[in-house]
Amino acid sequence: MPENIIHKYRGLIEEGLQALPFQKKPDSLYKPCRYILENGGKRIRPVLTLITCGLCRGELAQAVDAAIAIELTHNFTLVHDDIMDQAESRRGKTSIHVKWDDSTAILAGDELFVQACRQLTRYSADSSYTPEQIHLLYSTFFESVHTVCEGQAFDMEYGKRATVITTKEYLEMIRGKTVALLRGSMIMGGIVADAEEEELHRLGEIADSVGLAFQIQDDVLDLIADPDKFGKQRGGDIREGKMTYPMLLGLERGNETDRNQLLEVMKSSDVTDSDIDQTIDLLNRYSVIKSVREVIDSYYQTAFRVINRFGDSVYKEDLINLIHFLKNRDY
Ligand code: IPE
Ligand code: IPE
Ligand code: MG
Ligand code: MG
Ligand code: MG
Repeated sequence: MPENIIHKYRGLIEEGLQALPFQKKPDSLYKPCRYILENGGKRIRPVLTLITCGLCRGELAQAVDAAIAIELTHNFTLVHDDIMDQAESRRGKTSIHVKWDDSTAILAGDELFVQACRQLTRYSADSSYTPEQIHLLYSTFFESVHTVCEGQAFDMEYGKRATVITTKEYLEMIRGKTVALLRGSMIMGGIVADAEEEELHRLGEIADSVGLAFQIQDDVLDLIADPDKFGKQRGGDIREGKMTYPMLLGLERGNETDRNQLLEVMKSSDVTDSDIDQTIDLLNRYSVIKSVREVIDSYYQTAFRVINRFGDSVYKEDLINLIHFLKNRDY
């Protein structure tokens, strides 16, 4: 069962997260940090760091600090993203900015990111790495977080735009907000394993396809997933007027009346559950969800093709299984 793949690596990650210095005062700083980390999450990015390290012939223990840094960074982006998106729930629980307040969530996010950087500096104390490797590791990490910021800025700008964005603009935005960190997590696994440049390039190619598929899938799940399982409010993107892949396709295919209905619901400040149901019905009339699923599948197929350029190993099998798990996920 592909789900077991995550369990196989998860122990190392949970152990690393447990060891973080969050069991102290002030409560207003550390309680929300513990709250987000203990609320679960799929841990996909740190698992990818461990697997790609193994895939490039490294020892998994070498990748644990990088994996922890990545998961902390991911959680930091989620805490701040929920303020930006005014999202009320995350991983099935009340978001930090609602349970506490915006200031608490901003500071908790900052702390998570600082701890991520601190975790990464452990590599400087490891004499088995050259200064060039350390530099590549740190610059890859900072480049991905910097690109996430750009993607998040596009996401917010597009929400305020009077005109509809293009598919090209949408893809540029998700390459920033989602692909960049997945890319960082996979390439960093390769770097700590001292992978060759060509291998790092291949990991980047896999991450690009998986990341695009992953965010487009998140857009679909935002519309149709069971909120109890997905852990986020259904239709959160529509409620916030976010442009997503299914909405873009709906606008492209819809007749004038239907286009106007979609634009209307996205502009509305009071979106009801029935508005969301009607939007899904409208999109289904144009087979939008079906087509979006085909786009997602084709990105995953590209990822599988690139993975096959790696020699056979247990890590290659695990990576394939993990991607099957992502492909079939409903949360
Ligand atoms: C959520 O990521 C943010 C996106 C990039 C869509 P995940 O779906 O990996 O969130 P968790 O960590 O499992 O909660
Ligand atoms: C994901 O964007 C990107 C980041 C969190 C950086 P979303 O806003 O779609 O993520 P969710 O749906 O809130 O997890
Ligand atoms: Mg967002
Ligand atoms: Mg969000
Ligand atoms: Mg989303």
